[in-house]
Amino acid sequence: MKKEIRIFVYSGSRNLHSTTQIIAMELVKTIAERTQARVVVDEYTGYNTHMEECIGCTQCFIRGICGMDGKDDMNEIRKKMLAADCIIMGSPVYFHAVSGNMKKLVDRLSYWTHTMELTGKLGIVIATSGGNGLNYVSEYLKKFMDYLGIINVGIIEAATYYDSYMKENQVLESIRPKLLQCAQGVNRYALEGYIPHPSELQRKVFRMYNQKYMELEAYQDDIAEVRKWFAHGYLSYQEYDDVIEKLYQN
Ligand SMILES: Cc1cc2nc3c(=O)[nH]c(=O)nc-3n(C[C@H](O)[C@H](O)[C@H](O)COP(=O)(O)O)c2cc1C
Repeated sequence: MKKEIRIFVYSGSRNLHSTTQIIAMELVKTIAERTQARVVVDEYTGYNTHMEECIGCTQCFIRGICGMDGKDDMNEIRKKMLAADCIIMGSPVYFHAVSGNMKKLVDRLSYWTHTMELTGKLGIVIATSGGNGLNYVSEYLKKFMDYLGIINVGIIEAATYYDSYMKENQVLESIRPKLLQCAQGVNRYALEGYIPHPSELQRKVFRMYNQKYMELEAYQDDIAEVRKWFAHGYLSYQEYDDVIEKLYQN
């Protein structure tokens, strides 16, 4: 029987014919072809998703619950993300930053960065633009995913304008090597049994949180993120590499 890979996609574009989403779907197709696995995809975009903005109450950090979750699709999105093996986050560049739709997702998931809640999942970043600002968006999303504990297997930056606007197939051809590289990464770690390495930033963040939560042990009953860190059992690990190794060995 074929192995199954669950992929979660969020593209922060409201365009029905979104370049970001077209690339994300081409990536899913490439992963399916390259890995020979049965791919199950949960696909969300700024167009098809109801997502409210963060209201800034900070209750998610303290109580571990977002008061907005019952009012939109975020409960479902969180469940799908937790169930996924691989997470793809794509955003168009809107003046050298992520789109408003992508920022809403980042804000609503920010408290998960305090507990590295998506530890060990594989991740790919997609940034698209007319031609500039790609690095700001891809670096930001990569950093966000690092803090979530997601292991990056690739960054895809696609410009739609060189001397003139490119057709869809020209854009896809320009990033074909990257798509293949990402699919290989997913295959390697999700199916072939290789153990991935965390980034240097993840190692630093893990040590910093281990120190912080150790000092806050007495607040486990009062603060959800302290409780969660202990529940994850992270304090019994010195290094993030050991957490990832244990996870992949199992
Ligand atoms: C509000 C807005 C701001 C944008 N800012 C930039 C920019 O700073 N640099 C750039 O090269 N393209 C910029 N673009 C172009 C988009 O990044 C580009 O068309 C992108 O591929 C659209 O992705 P989508 O089809 O998935 O929505 C901007 C587009 C919009 C609507």
